[in-house]
Amino acid sequence: MSKTVLLCSPVYFDIEYEINPWMDKDNQVKQDVARQQWLQLNGIYGRMGWQVEHIDPVEGLPDMVFTANGGLVIAGKVALPTFRAPDRQPETAHFRQWFEQRGYTEFLQPKYDFEGEGDALVWNDIIFVGYPWRSDKPVHAELAEFFGKKVVSLQLADARFYHLDTCLTIVDDQTIALWPKAFTKEALKAVHNTVPNVIEASDEDALAYGLNASSDGKNIVLSDRAMGLIKTYQERGMSVHPIPISEFQKSGGGVKCLTLELR
Ligand code: ARG
Repeated sequence: MSKTVLLCSPVYFDIEYEINPWMDKDNQVKQDVARQQWLQLNGIYGRMGWQVEHIDPVEGLPDMVFTANGGLVIAGKVALPTFRAPDRQPETAHFRQWFEQRGYTEFLQPKYDFEGEGDALVWNDIIFVGYPWRSDKPVHAELAEFFGKKVVSLQLADARFYHLDTCLTIVDDQTIALWPKAFTKEALKAVHNTVPNVIEASDEDALAYGLNASSDGKNIVLSDRAMGLIKTYQERGMSVHPIPISEFQKSGGGVKCLTLELR
């Protein structure tokens, strides 16, 4: 299945503030390596037959490269982000402008904090939405109403996995992968009650950000350090595309964070 995704070049990507446990201003990004890693991701999506769109990067907004946080798009309707961290709040206007220029007309600007696809993953007709690190639980009702879809709320339990997309991958319409320790007991139960196949990632793979992956059910792109998950997906007969993401992980990001799906 071909997808259309939005990416943002990492020209201004950097660690200029610390808003999650991975970010450390003393652990600076190697710009040339980040650029290579991002180009590789961009190229793989093209070779997989996905259509790749780009939003212009903005100087002074180093995290705009993580387009997953730029919204949640379903059937042409856009829920814009209401960023918790003041450092990222100016990004919303740029994403909104990009959507408006391309003819999108239906927007939700949530009253509560919401960081886009970083915390909201679509599985069939359901939206799994994570909280509380970066999105507020009451935003789940706003999303359910706006999109007319069922929302399953998932409470996250480990600050290193502060966005849902850092600890859960939508693999295909029968399968998701996750790292159990990042979730409360109730959240895990909710996933198991909803999804037939749940793959559990090892601690090593989770910490390598292997769950921050992009899949269309046949192809999957993920961190090249997630050895267990790579093997699991290969055994399932998928085309597996492992890539290095070291520079983005310094910011608490990976493959999926760099990608917003335009449904
Ligand atoms: N430094 C960024 C932040 O903390 C990383 C965002 C990662 N995005 C994601 N979808 N998990 O906001």
